[in-house]
Amino acid sequence: MTPKTIVLTGASDGIGAAASRLLSEQGHRLLLVGRSPEKTAAVAGEVGADHFVADFASLAEVHELAERLTDAAGDDGIDVLANNAGGIFGDPQPTVDGFEKTFQVNHLAPFLLTNLLLPGLLRRGGSVVNTSSAAHRFFGRLELERLGDVRHVSARRDYGDAKLATVLFTRGLHQRFHDDGLSAVAFHPGIVRTSFAAGSRSGMRMVYHSALGRVLPMISAAQGGANLAWLLAGTPGVTWTSGRYYDRYRPTARVHSQADDPHLADALWRRSAEMVGLG
Ligand SMILES: NC(=O)c1ccc[n+]([C@@H]2O[C@H](COP(=O)([O-])OP(=O)(O)OC[C@H]3O[C@@H](n4cnc5c(N)ncnc54)[C@H](OP(=O)(O)O)[C@@H]3O)[C@@H](O)[C@H]2O)c1
Repeated sequence: MTPKTIVLTGASDGIGAAASRLLSEQGHRLLLVGRSPEKTAAVAGEVGADHFVADFASLAEVHELAERLTDAAGDDGIDVLANNAGGIFGDPQPTVDGFEKTFQVNHLAPFLLTNLLLPGLLRRGGSVVNTSSAAHRFFGRLELERLGDVRHVSARRDYGDAKLATVLFTRGLHQRFHDDGLSAVAFHPGIVRTSFAAGSRSGMRMVYHSALGRVLPMISAAQGGANLAWLLAGTPGVTWTSGRYYDRYRPTARVHSQADDPHLADALWRRSAEMVGLG
């Protein structure tokens, strides 16, 4: 197996940290990204990887991160970008950029990061692996004119919208760049016992971090991380299919009805580009 250069966000905890451990054992070069300097340094130290810190609630930090990652990757570029950082936050304050935080951290920031890293990814015929969630089917319903509004319905809806945007963004990447050699996939990792929703005041916190949660059939962070690592180490067109949404290890058509609309994927792309200030 040829070692890959893999950028992995959300690497400081949960699914991302578990995937980092597996991928480093397989000999890949990892550029690990987290928000907490201490947690990110700890995981990177454990697996012997380079690490980078950025808060996705600031688009300026995403710009700086992209520059540092591009420098670190060097002339060879990046084989795989894993947009895995995310969660449900339910913060009533807008981010410094003026957007609802769950939408920005899960969709706008990775949209911007991916676009800024595209030259390096295209140079390698690389791939983008986006961590979505089955929540997109249950709670999402995109209204382009209200995208990124602070708390227009509920934290759950904001999370569903963001993860639906992740599926459509994946379709958009495939539509726009697959002919140029780029592949993209989105996936739901299962219900995974991690720090997910720990800082949220939504009902999701109850599900994941209460006595109730302990009786629910959740998988471990190691199992969720193995799913992510399988996609990152895999070969598009052989082990997984570009443009598709996977539920754990299988492609599935069980997606939100809006997720199959190529015109919406295109409109979301253009709206997201406006929001993050890309021409
Ligand atoms: N757990 C589940 O059941 C489940 C199900 C479906 C989808 N997912 C998705 O899986 C992904 C990983 O979640 P997880 O379960 O591993 O949760 P987790 O343990 O809470 O890890 C979340 C990761 O995202 C990072 N992150 C959070 N806010 C950030 C911000 N503002 N800027 C930059 N990075 C930020 C965290 O960084 P710090 O730790 O450094 O703050 C951490 O590395 C998320 O996209 C989540 O939505 C999870």
